[in-house]
Amino acid sequence: MSKFRVGLGVSGGIAAYKAVEVMRLLQKAACEVSVAMTRHATEFVQPLTFRALTGGHVIVDDYDPANPDPIAHIKFSQEIDLLLIVPATANIIGKFANGIADDFLSSTYLACTAQVMIAPAMNTTMWEQPATQRNIERLRADGVHFVEPVAGELACKTVGTGKLEDVENIVSQAMRLLSEPPASAGGPDVVTDWPAAYAAGSDLSGERFLITVGGTREAIDPVRFISNHSSGKMGFALAAAARDRGAEVTVVAGVTAAEPPKGVRVLRGISAEEMHSAVKGEIERATVFVGAAAVADYAPVNAADAKIKKEGKEQLTLELKKTPDILAEVSRNRTNGLLVVGFAAETSDVVGYARSKMEKKGLDMVVANDITREGAGFNTDTNIATILTRGGEAIDLPMMPKREMADRILDELVKLR
Ligand code: PMT
Repeated sequence: MSKFRVGLGVSGGIAAYKAVEVMRLLQKAACEVSVAMTRHATEFVQPLTFRALTGGHVIVDDYDPANPDPIAHIKFSQEIDLLLIVPATANIIGKFANGIADDFLSSTYLACTAQVMIAPAMNTTMWEQPATQRNIERLRADGVHFVEPVAGELACKTVGTGKLEDVENIVSQAMRLLSEPPASAGGPDVVTDWPAAYAAGSDLSGERFLITVGGTREAIDPVRFISNHSSGKMGFALAAAARDRGAEVTVVAGVTAAEPPKGVRVLRGISAEEMHSAVKGEIERATVFVGAAAVADYAPVNAADAKIKKEGKEQLTLELKKTPDILAEVSRNRTNGLLVVGFAAETSDVVGYARSKMEKKGLDMVVANDITREGAGFNTDTNIATILTRGGEAIDLPMMPKREMADRILDELVKLR
């Protein structure tokens, strides 16, 4: 029997083909998927593709005589647990935000009582337009969930934010939303038993973790950037360990090579600025903050709009500015018993520098790794670290898998509660 019924709405952008994969992944997660497309989406993907894979009629037009139901948008919208829009264009977002119902998908949204999740994809300028952002804010206020687009090379050959989030991540966020009890069962600020599958009898149940993961990418021009070697393995290992011990986990991920764990909410913050604003938007709900990301300390003062030409330049000087120190700011503004954990990636006097970071930033714990040691630090499956806690002895952890180290870190964190 199907676990959940998902209405998959596909609007007309180049990423429409990725909706096919989203549909397959939802089916693999035992969801029953029905598909609705805008007229423009059918220019990118044939309704037949979805029909063949779902075995159901794909609705594009309410007035199509082939529709199984004469008022299809009402039936479609009432028989789903989630309306998931992949990809969402600026146009469909605008219609949803303004109550315009001039086609099947926009009428379905207006008639829908289920939860709604939107995964936008569009050109960076369209994404950044105040009109688009206003519409998104309005929809958020109406209770709509967003899977934010990420930065990358777009179909129009520019580089910037607007690329559809990875399909696995979209599905994992959709499944998480479906598994949560509705807000009316406890209200958004009440600790729920999410995710029920992981939460039973564990020592972090009731905690809400916010973890920064991976490296950041600071644009020099549309082609080049400053970054580092962080893979996200350590941060994702912590996210998985906290999840398995009953915590609700949100990660803000920069650039990562590792896969995010299932059952964890993933937001993207590719540059230090983006990571900073994603953390600011989430920190109020958190009970534990972990800064596992390798955030660039400096970013170019002005990223060039066009590719910087190398002709006639033997040297190029970049002017850099300090990025916001996310960890220090979270620690400085903390309230309500928020625990704050930092990492320190050092190449000498590891414990000395880590301790001074802990004191300067007022942290509860620092995990110090000597990244010069084999089997420690960036992009390895293992780590070697020293845990420092406020008022406690330093705890040396020998080389071990990052997942095991994550549990050792959480063991110490539990003692601080
Ligand atoms: O991702 P992996 O490949 O698994 O590698 C793991 C890791 C080596 C990246 C990880 O274990 C680690 O050490 N992360 C922190 C690396 C780092 O940037 O250290 P730092 O000493 O520069 O920063 C200290 C702390 O401040 C960190 O918690 C960092 O997230 C935070 N910070 C730093 C700068 C900034 N602008 N904002 C921050 O929040």
